[in-house]
Amino acid sequence: MKEMVLVVLVMLCFFRCSDRSESSLANDYVENLLERMTLKEKIGQMNQYSAGSNLTGPSGSEDGRYEKFKNGEVGSVLNLVGAEETKKLQKLVVENSRLGIPLIFSYDVIHGYKTIFPLPLAESASWDLDLMEKSARIAALEATASGIQWTFAPMVDVSRDARWGRVMEGFGEDPYLVSLIARAKIKGLQGSDLSGVSTMAACVKHFAGYGLAESGKDYNSVNIGKNLLHNVLLPPFRASAQSKVATFMNAFNAIDGVPSTANEYLLRDLLFEKWGYEGVVVSDWNSIGELVNHGVAKDKNQASVLAINAGSHIDMEADAYIQNLEQLVENGTVKEERIDDAVRRILQLKFNLGLFEDPYKYSDVEREKEIVGSTEFRGVAREVATKSIVLLKNNNHLLPLNGERKIGIIGPLAKDKDSPIGNWRAQGESNSAVSLYEGISNAYGDSVELSYAKGCDLSIGPNNFFEEVQIETEDRSGFAEAIQVAQSSEVVLMVLGEPAFMSGEARSRSEIGLPGLQLDLLKVVHEVNKNIVLLLMNGRPLTIPWAAENIPAILETWHLGSEAGNAIADVLSGKVNPSGKLPISFPRSVGQLPIYYNKLNTGRPKSDMVFYSHHMDVENSSQYPFGYGLSYTTFVYDNLKVESGNDGVTVSIEVTNSGDRRGEEIVQLYIRDVVATISRPVLELKGFKKMMIETGETKKVEFQLSKEDFSFYNMDGDLVFEPGEFVFSVGTSSEKLLTQRIEVN
Ligand code: BGC
Repeated sequence: MKEMVLVVLVMLCFFRCSDRSESSLANDYVENLLERMTLKEKIGQMNQYSAGSNLTGPSGSEDGRYEKFKNGEVGSVLNLVGAEETKKLQKLVVENSRLGIPLIFSYDVIHGYKTIFPLPLAESASWDLDLMEKSARIAALEATASGIQWTFAPMVDVSRDARWGRVMEGFGEDPYLVSLIARAKIKGLQGSDLSGVSTMAACVKHFAGYGLAESGKDYNSVNIGKNLLHNVLLPPFRASAQSKVATFMNAFNAIDGVPSTANEYLLRDLLFEKWGYEGVVVSDWNSIGELVNHGVAKDKNQASVLAINAGSHIDMEADAYIQNLEQLVENGTVKEERIDDAVRRILQLKFNLGLFEDPYKYSDVEREKEIVGSTEFRGVAREVATKSIVLLKNNNHLLPLNGERKIGIIGPLAKDKDSPIGNWRAQGESNSAVSLYEGISNAYGDSVELSYAKGCDLSIGPNNFFEEVQIETEDRSGFAEAIQVAQSSEVVLMVLGEPAFMSGEARSRSEIGLPGLQLDLLKVVHEVNKNIVLLLMNGRPLTIPWAAENIPAILETWHLGSEAGNAIADVLSGKVNPSGKLPISFPRSVGQLPIYYNKLNTGRPKSDMVFYSHHMDVENSSQYPFGYGLSYTTFVYDNLKVESGNDGVTVSIEVTNSGDRRGEEIVQLYIRDVVATISRPVLELKGFKKMMIETGETKKVEFQLSKEDFSFYNMDGDLVFEPGEFVFSVGTSSEKLLTQRIEVN
């Protein structure tokens, strides 16, 4: 084996020393290696296993996996973390397998590795692309220092249904915003050079349609047409491919009966042919095996044929490729060029990551000690968290808290140090967040009198990634204490919402109100003290019609990560003026779902007659729309100008801070294509600018729109421009807009 390592190094040196471009160097290297691989070794590169930290110990050897690693039958690993552990396994593979091809270590680093940032959905509310790039950069710094080179993020599934537990993991309902955030995240993770020791391969998932699972039920079927596919679901994936994201992941779901893992149209026709994507496609966990459950394959053998022919290159945890592909190639069912294509891409990725040069460079114990969980990252986590908070309501300027001496803090999440860490927490430790109570104590110290009551429990029993969360629905014995606290306080902070594991994978809900006894608790407190600030902590939009009507101040604080309590206190105290805007609509009731701002007009939009598209028992509008979010100050929009010129259309507007404190505003531009060959949305976000505006200051904001902004995808997935009338709308949310209509040719 040592000989082989030497050959590889000499080859690398030969290629590097010659005067050729990096990419032809990589090609030569990969081709040379590929030529020397047996079929079995090639298929090994397409096999991915999950590992606990004891993989190289007894449990690994028990199921024979240990041997497979030594034989070069595994190409990548997920869920093994730590510089020491990854080095150990890497060494085993490099030193024992015939060709010594290094493994890639992968992991779900979704919103931070050790330092935990707000949930992706929460962070999206900041609309701050630089900051989101920065948090991804920190996640990559930490994860790579722990031996990881590949994360299964970002999730770019557009989602419109808050029942789906994984809305927490995405960037909301708007394809334009999701695309921009996807680009920022990819840049933060991958940087400009994948071979850098602190950059890592990103993976956009889940390709495609996963976010539109029927009735918001995870893994459920998706039945959509081509318009929705091309104009809503695919743009973030296309933008990611253009940003050279290293990998794609299949979705679990079927679209119109075709499971994504076996979807030739999505993978071969669109991704590879039309978009020219040259990276790697990994299956989702056992999604090749699940083709049998979908009923499109009778066994894993047939499932392997479907998946490889469609273009799924790596089999995550199904054991399908490793057990079947060799024989399938030998008997002519699968062409060897399919295997070569997959392996070429995988080796190329390994080359780009610099693993052939030094398979151990990511596994540096000293670097891990120095970087992972470094306190300097906490400042960024706090900044991102403050910017993710959305002020939903603030009657009579109840917020910021100003001079109140007696603050009551009530609710099952008030002292919870775990829920703000959220689901998909990577190496974020349980109970490691700054709780709301701690945040308030840190901010106010002895200057206020704090009293606290839990009021009720939220979850009883398990609250972890693997088990169903159980919610308390019986025990009201804590209500009396809550009433007492409320009676003796000038203002009450009610901290209510969902525990960490109530959103995330397999955490769909059919009702999305405040779980358990929390609404009842809120009502009894409200009876004795109306001065309530409701602090919502949750991983999805909730239906809160009663609170929206009766509670004077409401802040959406999501699951904000390690610095949650401090960030919320920054906003409550007025140290930070809230500026977040919702990246997803909050429905009034579950029956409205799916609800989203960029809807089609229908043939029967709102009218005075009964025969229009509506529910009889709820308004058509959402409770809080996309793009909505208040500030402690007020912004006045004026002087909208839309001008068409040779370079496209220029839209300008003046925004004045008419309140009494400086604040950041996110100015949003939407368009509507009035007449087209297919029905177009009533509003489509096409630009936004986030800026600080001083008290009394007026800022002029300008947007430049080009032909592409007025185009849409036809049924073949081609971008088309149809001249005609367009409506331009600019404002502070998707429902508060100034508009103008002009002809665009
Ligand atoms: C999820 C993926 C994730 C994978 C590996 C699956 O259950 O759907 O998003 O990356 O597990 O953990």
